Amino acid sequence: MKIPVDKPVLVTSALPYVNGECHIGHLRTYVPADIYVRMLRKMGYDVRFISGSDTHGTPIVLSAEAQGITPEKVVEKYHEHFKHVFKTLKVDFDYYGQTDSESNHVRTEEIVNKLIEKDYVYKKVVKQAYCNTCGRFLPDRYVEGKCLHCGAIARGDECDQGCGKHLEPGEIIEPKCKICGNDAVFKEQEQFFFALSTFAEFLSSYLDKLGGTLNARNYAREWVKKELLDWCITRNLEWGVKFPGSDDLVVYVWVDAPIGYISFTEELLMGNGGWEKYWKDDEAAIVHFIGTDIIYHHCIFWPAMLKGAEYSLPDAVVASGMVKINGEKFSKSRGNVIWTTEFLERFHPDTLRYYLVAQSSHTKELDFSWDSYSMRVNNELVGVLGNLVHRVLTFARKNYAVVPEGDIEKEVFAAIEARRAEVINAVEEYEFKKLVDAVMALADFGNRFFHREEPWHLIKQGEEGRARAGIVIKNALQLLKAVCILLEPVMPEKMDEMWHQIGMESDVHSVKLDELMVPIESGQALGKPKMLFKRVET
Ligand code: MSP
Ligand code: ZN
Repeated sequence: MKIPVDKPVLVTSALPYVNGECHIGHLRTYVPADIYVRMLRKMGYDVRFISGSDTHGTPIVLSAEAQGITPEKVVEKYHEHFKHVFKTLKVDFDYYGQTDSESNHVRTEEIVNKLIEKDYVYKKVVKQAYCNTCGRFLPDRYVEGKCLHCGAIARGDECDQGCGKHLEPGEIIEPKCKICGNDAVFKEQEQFFFALSTFAEFLSSYLDKLGGTLNARNYAREWVKKELLDWCITRNLEWGVKFPGSDDLVVYVWVDAPIGYISFTEELLMGNGGWEKYWKDDEAAIVHFIGTDIIYHHCIFWPAMLKGAEYSLPDAVVASGMVKINGEKFSKSRGNVIWTTEFLERFHPDTLRYYLVAQSSHTKELDFSWDSYSMRVNNELVGVLGNLVHRVLTFARKNYAVVPEGDIEKEVFAAIEARRAEVINAVEEYEFKKLVDAVMALADFGNRFFHREEPWHLIKQGEEGRARAGIVIKNALQLLKAVCILLEPVMPEKMDEMWHQIGMESDVHSVKLDELMVPIESGQALGKPKMLFKRVET
């Protein structure tokens, strides 16, 4: 989707549930979003980038019960954990909030009241799983059983191991209590419903215009075509945002979680006003980054809620494919998971950022394996990029110490220009693999150029040869400069190092794409070449 460059952009990343640690699957939402934001800024856009912790819902309450601590404690612990992970990975939010904030409670109540006022919410008696042993209702993940659509083992709110469908309370077959393991029964209970079905027509025309990745739009369209069921938006829990006018009900976590996007914008702009520009007045582009498992919530439920409560609608939903490990789904219980912190104890964050986008097209599944990770690092980062930097810099330092005199050749500018166009296209298509492939092709061109021109021969051929070798080096350095600018969004720390190695003094993070065509300055002192990337031993 091409956003006019003078339009403000709000980019959000799905809010992680803070009921456990960050694994590398999560990162496929956060890293590409961060790359997208950095790239938009390089292209001259005014961008705000927000996210925060999803603090409500049964996963957190269950995790608290299992650890014998309060939900607040669980939230605090993992909120700090996620913040730390994002800092280490240079996922650089302008604001990272949490959904239990005062302003999110207020905003959620306001929106729910608006929906009630406009008759989009109604009361209904439903069957709900109840555990006689524990003496309580079993909302969402408190209950396990079989999916009524496909028969797979499922959680109360979602068929997570099978067809992936959302399950309403009472839809699970053969329910069992997650707390004590006993069979549960169904009991009647009064709940509140959001009249999602009345939004069918609105949604089908909204989805026709929705930007982002095709998988999100197509998947959501299928749902609208089939049948839209009203959503039960209350739960018998204490932890959460109180449902207005009720003492024992909170709103379903999928109500207050996306509203966090609005509250965090308010919190970010606190005092300066202006959040309305994003959420009320339709003056900005809203782009949501998520994984395919939550398309339904972001393309159907959320826009209907916004429409009903008279807010601005998202312009694009970008949904990544899921990360698997050696062909299998992530599963904490089966130990099939790679924890981000453990990964980062051994390897540089930038290599993980690179891998996550280089390994597969954004909407496709990404099958993690140590083999594919080490191959990407060894062949591409060490073999192509690291090698080019090292060869050029060692030669340049030894023979000139500074950037030599000379003009940038036509073919070099042409190569940079062509790759720049590909990168911009890739950003507009949310195809981050195409982005890195284009830049790596430029590095590859640099290697071939250096090899073809043979400066090591030229330098031995008198004054004229030395001058020509200087021109070759200057051109090679120009290519390094371009690669560095274009890859900064992907590997911010390593490209900062490289930027200084080629003698640049400005801040590579804030350099714009226009700088690609500015010749690197002759006479500028070159830094010490140091290996950028380490080989990964398999
Ligand atoms: N709390 C909800 C999102 C609320 S947004 C208003 C949630 N949290 S999550 O912690 O389960 O996931 C956070 C993000 O990570 C989501 O975008 C999700 O799609 C993504 N992923 C979690 N596991 C993943 C994989 N194994 N693979 C790819 N993305 C995954 O959903
Ligand atoms: Zn029980």
